[in-house]
Amino acid sequence: MSNKVGIDKIAFYSPDYYIDMVELAHARDTDPNKYTIGLQQDKMSVIPVWEDIVSMGANAALQIIDDKDRESIDQVIFATESSFDYSKSAATYIHNMLGIHSGAKSFEVKQACYAGTAGLMAGFDYVRANQERRVLVVAADIARYGLHTSGEPTQGAGAVAMIISSEPKILSIDAQSFSRTDDQYDFWRPSHSPVALVDGHFSNQLYADSFINVFQQAEEALGTDLNQVKALAFHLPYTKMAKKALTALSDAETKMDEKMRARLIEDWQEQLNAAIVYGKQVGNTYTASLYISLMSLLKESDSLKAGDKIGLFSYGSGSVSELFFGNLVEGYQEQLEKVSGQKDLDERLQISIPDYEKYFGDRDLEYEANIDFEIPTDYVGFYLAKIDEHRRYYDFK
Ligand code: HMG
Repeated sequence: MSNKVGIDKIAFYSPDYYIDMVELAHARDTDPNKYTIGLQQDKMSVIPVWEDIVSMGANAALQIIDDKDRESIDQVIFATESSFDYSKSAATYIHNMLGIHSGAKSFEVKQACYAGTAGLMAGFDYVRANQERRVLVVAADIARYGLHTSGEPTQGAGAVAMIISSEPKILSIDAQSFSRTDDQYDFWRPSHSPVALVDGHFSNQLYADSFINVFQQAEEALGTDLNQVKALAFHLPYTKMAKKALTALSDAETKMDEKMRARLIEDWQEQLNAAIVYGKQVGNTYTASLYISLMSLLKESDSLKAGDKIGLFSYGSGSVSELFFGNLVEGYQEQLEKVSGQKDLDERLQISIPDYEKYFGDRDLEYEANIDFEIPTDYVGFYLAKIDEHRRYYDFK
């Protein structure tokens, strides 16, 4: 059995529109420093009504999937907390849109932002047992708290697609990981509500406590091997959250020698500068966020290299968290050059706050039984073309 199961390919997608956080602050009569320094957010992706979790997920996956994958993917796992259907999974659409063989299974998974990792780990276990086969994991979300709420500056939209194989070209994942479940109400979305409900300050605390808890478990099991971890990618509900978690760790009780811990945290703080580049411009993408942070770390760090061990911290409100590790594979940089990155974020179009508010309100059109969507002439990619008797139809242009 190969010990090298992991992420073979990965790509992200975020919609073409964004708002500037300083403009949002002015519109909300707030000091811009609260958003740009206090939350460390510069921009926020805005999703128009002709895009949704399915089109975003397909646009991410299209960058990496090839014919060999189409034949060897046995499972399409879709992680989201922005589902538009209680029964039919978003994975069934993606399976069809990408032309994956009909013998594959397709399903959706849910546990707030943690679900992307739940999907990844399910794929990892499947491929360890079926070494010739692959799993496609898609994580896509639209983070929505509502206009004029304290959560508003922590919204966003985006998707990540990952192919899991036993010949990973990006990251081989360690089998041992460290998890925690803690039944809490820090952030939740009852099925009747189009926006999330949140106890914001409690959610910050629970995130940091969870990080310390799984770190302590890792320390217990791995001891000084933790020293080899060169960098961490984080779930980023907003960019400053990762920094807050590392600060909490430096104040927490751990078994590590204090000097060693301080050095390690300093190294991780340094690498964090690379891990937050994309999140700072996209905002929260719930299930996709950790994996956008991973791509940001790998594409934007100029000191990481093949063979380095890195860690990933996944947090999903409610709450479930997991800390896991993996090694960067020879040639990972070349693989990542083929997919989305800073250039795609630079090519997005800045829109005004009134336009953002209009797009926010337009999402209610999704509840219409019948509607055709008008797409800009220069749009490229998959999109939601129409809803017909509550059935969604996607197209590509
Ligand atoms: P708030 O109460 O509006 O803001 O809510 P605040 O007063 O806490 O200020 C935010 C930061 O800005 C603070 O920094 C202030 O000091 C600073 P901190 O003390 O925390 O380091 N600040 C300023 N800095 C510079 N100049 C200024 C200034 N003013 C203030 N003038 C909150 C903020 C994040 C709570 C809110 O936006 C929210 O509720 N967001 C949604 C929840 C969230 O993102 N929680 C994060 C952890 S939970 C999680 O990660 C899971 C999640 O992704 C969901 C899932 O799992 O599905 C959310």
